[in-house]
Amino acid sequence: MRKQIVAGNWKMNKTADEALILASEVVNMVKDEVNTDVQVIIAPPALYLATLQKYTETVSNVGIAAQNCSSKASGAYTGEISASMLKSIGVTHVILGHSERRQYFNETNEELAEKVNIVLENGLTPIFCCGESLELRQGEDFLAFVASQLTDSLFHLSAEDFAKVVIAYEPIWAIGTGLTASSDQAQEMHAYLRAHLATKYGQEAADNTSILYGGSCNEKNAPELFACPDVDGGLIGGASLKSREFTNIAKSF
Ligand code: G3H
Repeated sequence: MRKQIVAGNWKMNKTADEALILASEVVNMVKDEVNTDVQVIIAPPALYLATLQKYTETVSNVGIAAQNCSSKASGAYTGEISASMLKSIGVTHVILGHSERRQYFNETNEELAEKVNIVLENGLTPIFCCGESLELRQGEDFLAFVASQLTDSLFHLSAEDFAKVVIAYEPIWAIGTGLTASSDQAQEMHAYLRAHLATKYGQEAADNTSILYGGSCNEKNAPELFACPDVDGGLIGGASLKSREFTNIAKSF
């Protein structure tokens, strides 16, 4: 069956010293308190990945993710970081297609399909983000819109490669706003996306795919969200910057 996963996306936060403290606190709390069936992932700024990986590798159910990577393998791409570089320092996951990258860095579904490919080629797990704007949510096509993000960036994958992908549904209107999707809204979208995956890869593969919820998820609302049958965990932003709260979220299943 599919994995329960709680991933913390630190975004562009924390100095080096603060990052060390936060990562060591999270690792220690997870080791002592979180069920080993739950996979916990931290996604610090890229600058800290190599250092913090030394902490995360000490606990079997803790992984470390990059927040992005290049779609190119190597070469003259100033400022970029490749999937093979991430792999070489022990990174396990890569967040791809976060709405902030789509919005501020113009990432398209087509470019994201290339990033998914190179991440998988390097033996890393993509955490593929999707989600609709408030404007779309207020119309009638928001379910189909989010499904089309999966179609465009993932449906070229073989069944074998698709089985390695984690999906994160993040309604843009709920990110960092304090407005959480209700558990009914999250469940509706997650079930819709799972049914959409089944049309391409079959019911068993869809049932085995972890679909995380993200958007103002915190220690208070996580238990209700994670109790939804199609919500398999969370991609946590603001609340992942506090070790106690993040660990509590990982204990919310
Ligand atoms: O990647 C995480 C999401 O953007 C959620 O962020 O929990 O601060 O709303 P948030």
